[in-house]
Amino acid sequence: MDRQTIHLTVNGTPRQVEIEPRTMLLDVLREDLGLTGTKNGCGQGHCGACTVIMNGKAVRSCVTLARRADGAAIETIEGLAQDGELHPLQRAFVDQGAVQCGFCTPGMIMAAKALLDANPTPTEADIEQALKRNLCRCTGYAKIVEAIQVAAGQRSAPEAAPDGRQSAVVGQRMPRPDAVAKVTGAAIFAADYRFPDMLYARVLRSAHPHARVLGIDTSLAGTAPGVVAVLTAVDVPGRPNHGVSRHDWPVLVAVGGVVRYRGDALAVVVAETEAQAEAALEHIAVEYEPLPAILSSEEARRPDAPHLHPGGNLLKHTHVERGDVDAAFKQADVVIEQVYHTPATDHAFLEPEAAVAVPTAGGVTVYAGSQIPFKDQAQIAASLALPLEKVRVVHPAVGGAFGGKEDISGQIHAALAAVVTGRPVKLVYTRSDSLRYHPKRHATTIHYKTGATRDGKLVAVAVEILGDTGAYASLGEFVMARTATHAAGPYDVPNVRLDSYALFTNNPPAGALRGFGVPQSCFACETQMDMLAERLGLDPLELRRRNSVRVGSTLPTGQVLRESVGLLETIERVEQAMRAAPVDDRPADPTRRRGWGVACAFKNVGLGGPLPDSAGADVELTLRLGSPRLCSGQAGQATEAQCIVRAGAAENGQGLPAVLAQIAAQELGVPYERVQVILADTGQTPDGGATTASRQTFVTGNAARQAAIRVRESLAGAAAEELGVSPDTLVFANGQVYVSSPRAAGLTLEQAIALAHREGRATREQVVYTAPPTVDVETPGDTHFAYGYGTQAAQVEVDVETGQVRVLHVIAAHDVGKAINPLGVEGQLEGGVLMGLGYALTEELELDNGLVLNDTFARYKVPSIDQRPRITPIIVEDPAAAGPYGAKGVGEITSIPTTAAITNAIYAATGVRTTRLPVALDDLHLSDPPD
Ligand code: FES
Repeated sequence: MDRQTIHLTVNGTPRQVEIEPRTMLLDVLREDLGLTGTKNGCGQGHCGACTVIMNGKAVRSCVTLARRADGAAIETIEGLAQDGELHPLQRAFVDQGAVQCGFCTPGMIMAAKALLDANPTPTEADIEQALKRNLCRCTGYAKIVEAIQVAAGQRSAPEAAPDGRQSAVVGQRMPRPDAVAKVTGAAIFAADYRFPDMLYARVLRSAHPHARVLGIDTSLAGTAPGVVAVLTAVDVPGRPNHGVSRHDWPVLVAVGGVVRYRGDALAVVVAETEAQAEAALEHIAVEYEPLPAILSSEEARRPDAPHLHPGGNLLKHTHVERGDVDAAFKQADVVIEQVYHTPATDHAFLEPEAAVAVPTAGGVTVYAGSQIPFKDQAQIAASLALPLEKVRVVHPAVGGAFGGKEDISGQIHAALAAVVTGRPVKLVYTRSDSLRYHPKRHATTIHYKTGATRDGKLVAVAVEILGDTGAYASLGEFVMARTATHAAGPYDVPNVRLDSYALFTNNPPAGALRGFGVPQSCFACETQMDMLAERLGLDPLELRRRNSVRVGSTLPTGQVLRESVGLLETIERVEQAMRAAPVDDRPADPTRRRGWGVACAFKNVGLGGPLPDSAGADVELTLRLGSPRLCSGQAGQATEAQCIVRAGAAENGQGLPAVLAQIAAQELGVPYERVQVILADTGQTPDGGATTASRQTFVTGNAARQAAIRVRESLAGAAAEELGVSPDTLVFANGQVYVSSPRAAGLTLEQAIALAHREGRATREQVVYTAPPTVDVETPGDTHFAYGYGTQAAQVEVDVETGQVRVLHVIAAHDVGKAINPLGVEGQLEGGVLMGLGYALTEELELDNGLVLNDTFARYKVPSIDQRPRITPIIVEDPAAAGPYGAKGVGEITSIPTTAAITNAIYAATGVRTTRLPVALDDLHLSDPPD
């Protein structure tokens, strides 16, 4: 192939690179120049993560031919900070909380810089226009817009963030400890790793949704250019199947075995380049015997349906019953019955799955973004027949997960390839791979029946839910159990019968996705509540208030709520905010209709079930040399106290590093910026379990807090002896150890640490925290140790000529127990609202014979910046006794009520009731709009 040399100036430095005709600018930056701050989110120019500035203009480098950059000046994220000072945009993104997972951040900042360079005083519409092709799945865009306005001088910067020297760090709006690395491009994501002599892997997937594999011929592929190995099932030395709950998912489907969906893996090609590995896939011949495919849960349930697994097609039936449901329906004054349909949807995290495996002496180290690194370690070790300690999983920065990185993606394939070849191997999913192959949100069909008295008291709820759990178990049984247990909503209902069925089909597996099954049943429940309110002539919020759970209420599972039930306050706060909202219900344009809708939700915190819900954390106080600027060169004068928190919990963007740093700073009095948080490295952190079920603030937060308290007590013993006071009179704050009574000078933290070291007292402690016990849904007792509650109101505007819906405003009040970092909680609220908006209006996997058709961001519609509504986040704090400082969790519930609030608002605006998601715009196309 003709190669050519191009010359370009990158961040002010002349560079010369040899390229091929089809080489993209992104590859030059990342692969040739090592500037991995620029990210590849889709490779098709749809997400904007690869945005750089070329000759003053923002361009998407993944679709910009490198030869077009010959002679150009290129600016990347690495070039923005000057002399150690962040660019104003970078500073504003950090301080404003505009960074979560950080994968979109470099592209966002570069697009914003191009805008401000050309237009220093942009309007909000200018910002939307400039960034509308830059997707963010985490933040809801609100804080990104605010950060740009701060950088443009149009909005005040937030008050200086507390420096952690004040005594109360918990409850303060703190910037994330990892935000600076993310705004400068220094944060390393899995695909950013490079090792000498590295190979690349690509995977051959099934051509059928259901078929027996009669033969796999890899001989031709094995001799293709650059190919080093072609691996099939016979190369898997250990357990042939993986699975996050049941081991039913083949690592590679063997000859004689059965493929159960279009993502089943048949062979792994390992080659010198990714292009060579991809090209060789074409040369693998597979002979199939097609089998009848089951493509919906209804088909799976038929008595004559073929069995997809030895136990049949039913993965799990969950049944919850309380009271006498049939009798209650007979006595009800009003009964409402309706069928609902919800689609399969995708997490659409901006960072596609990636794994880099490096062989080690007798083992392997795998760098991969995951929600359960320790379970990855166990699954890799089992399939490779390696001792557990020979497999190390290191969790780099992760570009979002939302439940979609709990299952194995490429970790075992990369590890196997590395061990077989003896060389490092990188395996990165394309956007199409990601949208096609990893587990999805369950598509459901929900039969819902509600009975109530004339005065609006719920007396009975009966729900049956069929869930398409796809080809393999994943977390489907647990997800569908939550769909059932939460189906009656956060309401006191004396008679309930809730059934859910997780059914195997030949569609992509279904598993966890933010909300874990509750968004589906919440949509149905809250639509029922809206219909009931209308039938009874009641205000929708008043109906919810009359039925709201409170302390002493009994849930359908029989669990009695004994504390921390903040739902009523969230209803009150939303009602107040709606009253304060501008009255603009009648747009000037007569083809547009506006309406408000409301919805409530609750969501468990923690895993639930009979197994202990535990997480470990290790907290160390140590002395380190200060920064060179501060160093006087004299021994002893340059040391400063530093805290290191090591925990096994995975951070996928949700904000755990800030929470743990705040807890350590609070308990030990060490400045916040001197707390280093190391997460999820099986080689150096204790196990933290899964980052799922909104549990990590609660469990890992408690573990870190208790470990920090032990360290403090150890230091207090040393300091008390030195000062001649009782240890319980000492206060750790502001980098000092004070004597509180009588208040007098004490020691610096550094002196206290040095004292403890000299006396051999512990300065490092590890705690494994176990949450209060829970039971499964069939057993009387607490199914969960805590719940979060929320109420949201949405205002929409519908163009009844085109059917277009614009969500104008969402008020979101959520009881989080205690907001350890309100800045982070707001970010979760705003991001969750936008995800719920997508579920209502745009998101749906289009499947044809088991194949995902909309496998690009051009066709799978994630909400963009110009679709974001105004969001009013309201934090309600009804503390949980066992939570750290009362905190519960916030990750999932923020997106659950949004969908129904929007569809109920559409009804208020148009009179069109949505029972199938996403909203069909054609249905809103009213030839004769209502007055
Ligand atoms: Fe934007 Fe995660 S912070 S995609």
